[in-house]
Amino acid sequence: MNATLWTPTLSLFAIALACFCAAAVTMAQADELDARSSSDDQLPATLEATGFNTTAGVVEFQPQYPLWTDGADKRRWLALPRGSAIDATKPDEWQFPRGTKLWKQFSFNGKPAETRYIEHGRDGVWRFAAYVWNDAGTEATLAPKRGTAVKAPHGRHDIPSRSDCIACHGSAPVPVLGASALQLSSSLRDLVARGLVRGLPQQMLREPPQVAAATPVERAALGYLHGNCAHCHNTGPTRAPLALTLAQRAADPAASRAEVLRSTVHAPSRYRTAEGDSLSTIVVPGAAGHSVLAHRMQSRDPRIQMPPLGTAVADEQGIALIRRWIGELPSTSSKESQP
Ligand code: HEC
Ligand code: HEC
Repeated sequence: MNATLWTPTLSLFAIALACFCAAAVTMAQADELDARSSSDDQLPATLEATGFNTTAGVVEFQPQYPLWTDGADKRRWLALPRGSAIDATKPDEWQFPRGTKLWKQFSFNGKPAETRYIEHGRDGVWRFAAYVWNDAGTEATLAPKRGTAVKAPHGRHDIPSRSDCIACHGSAPVPVLGASALQLSSSLRDLVARGLVRGLPQQMLREPPQVAAATPVERAALGYLHGNCAHCHNTGPTRAPLALTLAQRAADPAASRAEVLRSTVHAPSRYRTAEGDSLSTIVVPGAAGHSVLAHRMQSRDPRIQMPPLGTAVADEQGIALIRRWIGELPSTSSKESQP
């Protein structure tokens, strides 16, 4: 591993954000997120030792709005302790029982690069780790706490530090980001039938939750922003203090849409990124080129890029979708427009 590949700017940003988030989460929740206190000896040294191939009852899942990571193919699995279930009474804040394990594997061209691991310990502490695969693809070992980088088709692939894990996973209402009523909308009946999810509001089984939107393009765009940005840009108690909200709630799709439109359309930009940057509005209806949102998604300058972590290559397809949505917004677009 070549440590010099690591970008210091990103690490500093992440640490600043992570400190805020970790502190806030500890205050807000009885269970803790394990950021700086997590020493390597509390984490299994190999992926195999996490129970990756040996845990009974492992379930693969696929969020409908996945996070873009430089074109990596991803697979995700979860395992609950025998006889337990996810409490989905709050559809946007699923409670995962102690002993839950989650894995997410990143591959490029069919070759595994890393597998990330989240554990909700029996002691109530959430632990985060990344395992780096060897060249032969036979074994994955614990990545250093500060993160590392590996070769990838696009150049390099950054394996986040443990504070980076917390920067994203610690700012949302619960640290599991891809398993929620909205993200797993089309699998809810199956998950409930298998006894893995309990307490889900009955009406969500009759009518699987979806993003409220005026058009299919808007639904896809708001879903994309939820999957890629809402873990930081949300209004939950543990969030980073950002006025810009890009989160959707299955429990209240119309209100979430209104909040997103209110904080984007015609909204003033509060953060100036680079000298000479003339853009001042988050979203200008009909004019993606004048919208800070599209500009910051397109950039991979570490001072400007959004998301600030976890990607080195802009998501051209995602940006095309966002541009199309902004392009189709009526220029008279009222902040109170209804779905
Ligand atoms: C840029 C933000 C970001 C960073 C940094 C990040 N994650 Fe995630 N992670 C996500 C999002 C968003 C999802 C859900 C969407 C998806 O999987 O496509 C996710 C999903 C996961 C999952 C599957 C369970 C779940 O929450 O849905 C695991 C396991 C995971 N991440 C572990 C880690 C670990 C360990 C680290 C640090 C080494 C890390 N992640 C760093 C954003 C991030
Ligand atoms: C890891 C947390 C994190 C993620 C993920 C993230 N952001 Fe941000 N975002 C921030 C922070 C912190 C700021 C404020 C500092 C700054 O401007 O860089 C910010 C600022 C912004 C701003 C400027 C707001 C203003 O008032 O000027 C925009 C626009 C933005 N983000 C869009 C996005 C979009 C779009 C995504 C997803 C594609 C995203 N962000 C993902 C943390 C995040």
